[in-house]
Amino acid sequence: MSKHFEKRKQAAMVVNRLYSTPSMMNVMDSKEYQDLKLKYDQLLKMHDELEKIYGFHKAVLQNLTSGILVVNLKGTIIFANRSALDLLQYEYLHLQGKPFSFLFADPEEGSYFTNRLIKEKARFKSRETYFLTGKKTVIPIGMTTSTFNEIESQQVNGFIIHFSDITVQLDQRRQLERMERLATLGELAAGIAHEIKNPLAGIKAATQVLQESFKPDDFRSQLITRILREIDRSNDLLSRFFDFTRPKKPIQEFHDIEMLIDGIYLLLAPRLKKKKIRFSKEFENGLPRVFVDASQIEQVLMNLFLNAVDAMPGGGLLKVSTQTVNQVVLQEGHQPVQAVCVKVTDDGVGIAPENLEKVFNPFFTTKSSGIGLGLSISNRLIVENGGKMEVNSQPGKGATFELYFPVIEDKPNKEALV
Ligand SMILES: Nc1ncnc2c1ncn2[C@@H]1O[C@H](COP(=O)(O)OP(=O)(O)O)[C@@H](O)[C@H]1O
Ligand SMILES: [Mg+2]
Repeated sequence: MSKHFEKRKQAAMVVNRLYSTPSMMNVMDSKEYQDLKLKYDQLLKMHDELEKIYGFHKAVLQNLTSGILVVNLKGTIIFANRSALDLLQYEYLHLQGKPFSFLFADPEEGSYFTNRLIKEKARFKSRETYFLTGKKTVIPIGMTTSTFNEIESQQVNGFIIHFSDITVQLDQRRQLERMERLATLGELAAGIAHEIKNPLAGIKAATQVLQESFKPDDFRSQLITRILREIDRSNDLLSRFFDFTRPKKPIQEFHDIEMLIDGIYLLLAPRLKKKKIRFSKEFENGLPRVFVDASQIEQVLMNLFLNAVDAMPGGGLLKVSTQTVNQVVLQEGHQPVQAVCVKVTDDGVGIAPENLEKVFNPFFTTKSSGIGLGLSISNRLIVENGGKMEVNSQPGKGATFELYFPVIEDKPNKEALV
């Protein structure tokens, strides 16, 4: 805009100089000249107004936090606002002129979607899909489309795609679903456990009385010992149900998470050695302390380590790392916060994609002697301690479980000051 202004100023100076010469004085007094000058001034004013309006609309479009793309009737991208470029990690030049379908992570969906948009002029509302960014990462997005109409004729000239990154919303939705499943199944388990525990106690008492009527070397006494053992096993299982359905309220204090990890490692070191599993740790310097119930977090770490051991029957590497991360949403509806992240990674069998969401479900197990409560209890404990748990895995390559704890303002560590 200022460039235009400079040019206009220069032109006005030239005109003024010309008209200041004596022969021009007469012309300037003429009515014709005055009329022209009036029109010229009016035009200049209109031009200024138009530039202001143009600048305003451009600023609105560029400062929107959602991505805006405009696609022509051939399906070619002809405009992208700044947020679109930021979200998609593209330079304008690399995006402009490209077919819209090329942004989709799934090429088939890309051509199907673009076809419906163009041929049927279909409109999409809050449609969820995945886009491939310029850096070859995949981001989940939600988009709404509308037609781009000529103002006068209302003729459709193209399409406007209005989209945003929905990673956070998807995360929250998944976490909520997980919690809901847990709650219903938890109640069910509690009911069943209660119903079975009582008659079991009766059976056990009666069996013990029965055993007293046989000599210890009588084969019937040995059978009864077997029955008692099975009753104890069932009781043990039921107690675990109870643990699961009635977790104790966490008693939170500030703890050094690395000390908790080291403690569990020491407990398991002999077993790791026997199973030919190497252990490595990468702890970030100066990590803030976490506000947690130590015994509950130890239980979680123990579960994760034991699962990793199970996942590496032929030996392997168990890696634990800690780091601080910014801007993590830990619980539904809350603001992103700074968090301490603990990653437990193994290079074992991994988890099939269709099982990834299920591993946190109560009773989900792929092991012949598994119970499938370890991860669901762990997940619940982490949530109760204000954090969240996530899993990533590549089948055949291993799995990573991530624990996030909010960083809470710590009171000074007395021991450290001494
Ligand atoms: N580190 C891991 N690697 C591969 N699969 C895992 C891992 N951790 C958990 N799983 C999968 O999740 C399931 C549920 O785990 P969990 O709740 O601890 O129950 P369980 O260990 O009794 O099977 C396991 O059966 C297994 O299929
Ligand atoms: Mg387990």
